[in-house]
Parts: sequence; structure tokens; C-alpha cells
Amino acid sequence: MSTIDKIEELKKQRDAVILAHYYVDDEVQAIADYVGDSFYLSKAATAATAKTILFCGVSFMGESAKILNPGKTVIMPDMQADCPMAHMADLEKIEKMRREYEDLAVVCYINSTAELKTYSDVCVTSSNALKIVQALPNQHIFFIPDENLGRYVASQVPEKHFIFNDGFCHVHTSISAENVKKAKEAHPGAEILVHPECTTEVVKLADYVGSTSGIIDFATESRAEEFIICTEMGVLYELKQKNPGKRFYSVGHRQFCPNMKRITLEKVADALESMANTVEMEEEMRLLAKKPLERMLELGS
Ligand code: 13P
Ligand code: SF4
Repeated sequence: MSTIDKIEELKKQRDAVILAHYYVDDEVQAIADYVGDSFYLSKAATAATAKTILFCGVSFMGESAKILNPGKTVIMPDMQADCPMAHMADLEKIEKMRREYEDLAVVCYINSTAELKTYSDVCVTSSNALKIVQALPNQHIFFIPDENLGRYVASQVPEKHFIFNDGFCHVHTSISAENVKKAKEAHPGAEILVHPECTTEVVKLADYVGSTSGIIDFATESRAEEFIICTEMGVLYELKQKNPGKRFYSVGHRQFCPNMKRITLEKVADALESMANTVEMEEEMRLLAKKPLERMLELGS
């Protein structure tokens, strides 16, 4: 039996649905029931009626699915697949900011640990951050953990005061403005599509800035035929599927997230067979982390 047939068989036995982020390998995206950006996947996890959610992504994604769906069994193909940025905020700094600004909202990118979420007022993803920050009554925003996404949101919401944190994604910050300018010289007709985890210098060169889904939708609707892609290269799978006649170029050599790439078909099959890699959490922490995620779903819809 092939690994794909085994996965299909085990999915039925376990009453499982497979969710995958656009950054996992092509063959894993191909067998998933739902593939999308972080916001889409958090909604899909909640809408799913299956008893088991197999999350092909990094740990904050599985954690968020568990926080929102305590009655479901959430499993991960690889428990070591973790996003370094999810840990890049400091509880002491959050407390210090709360003391300093009475009217403070701690806005937490979903790429964060469950513990960080418990200290936050609302979660955001790259596709809903603008809408949510604009909807908040607070004037002062402490944006954690990603500095670049925070700076991008701040540039679009100049009426609010932002405090930034120094977290970053090594995959996106490895893309330099120099890389982008060289790619544009080589492909002058190409549109530059940028994820907001990239640096401000790269964002300034963009024809479009948005989440992975936003980038895919923009390229699909655009009349241009060539695109310079400034995000993790896993998005190429969906970009090419939806746009077989268009050309996509990467700008750097390090646009691969090693954690997302830990997910393989074999690990998907093993996780469904053993049901061992379950996401577990203390109920007290889950309830506290649920509040900012639910607020995101409410304000972001
Ligand atoms: P989105 O798919 O929400 O744009 O997230 C990007 C990302 O870095 C996920 O780890
Ligand atoms: Fe984290 Fe960056 Fe990998 Fe996304 S691409 S999981 S932000 S390290």
C-alpha cells in the first residue's frame, strides 16, 4: 500500500481531517483537506466536524487549534516543528508596558506560544491585523512578537501609537532589499509580492503586501505574467496550480522554513497510526489563551 493510500485509510479509521499551511512540502499540501494561511486554518479547525484534527504546520498552529477545540483530538506529524519567532517576546516587557500605558492593547501575532497569548488582549494574523487594530478602541498598541508585521500595521494605522518588540522570522528577514532590486532588474515586468514579516525596506519595494493567501489571490487576479515572491517558497505549489501560465521567481536562497519542512507524508501516516503526538494543555492556560483568539475570530470576520 502506498503512503498516500495508507493516509486515506487511516483518516477514515480515525475520523480525521488534515489541515496544512502553504509552507509545508507540496506532497503534504496535495493530500490535505484544507490548505491556507493562518487565519483560514484557525477557522477551518473550528468548523471541522471530524473528531481528529491533524495539523501539518508548526506548534503554535496545533496549539491554537486545541485552544479553540478542546473536545477534538489535535495531532501533529512532528512535535519538534516549532516557529522560533513564537517565543520571541518577554513577559516582563509586557507587564512593564501595561504599567506605562493605561490604555494599552497587547496585540499578539498568532505566531506565538500559548503562554504569550494568555498575556495578550487580542490575537491577529497577517491577513486580519489591520482590520483588528483599527477596530480596537485603544490608542496605544504593543505589538508582539514580530517587529516587521508590527511596523507594517503601524504604517497603515498612523492614528495609533505603536510600541514594537524585537521578534522576527529568520526566513523573511533573510530577504534583503538588494535581493529584490536585483530580481527586479532581471525581470522588469514582474510584480513584487511581499509578506509583511519581511523588513520595512523590502515592504517599501512591494506592489502588494499580504498574507500567503493574499499573495496567492493577488497573483491569480493580476494581469501581470511574472512575479517576484518574497515569502517562504512553499506558496509556489498553490501559485503554480492556480496559475499554470504565469512565472514566479524567488529573490533569495534561504526562503525555506526548516520547521515547516519537517512535515513529511511518512510522518503524517505515522501520526495517524500511532495517535501519539497529541497537543495537550493545562485547562487554565487554554481558557486564558482562548480569549484573545476568540476576540480575533470575532473582530476579524
Ligand atoms: P500566513 O500564512 O498567515 O501569512 O502566515 C505566515 C507564516 O509565517 C506562518 O508561519
Ligand atoms: Fe515561523 Fe517564519 Fe517558519 Fe513562519 S516561516 S513558521 S514565521 S520561522
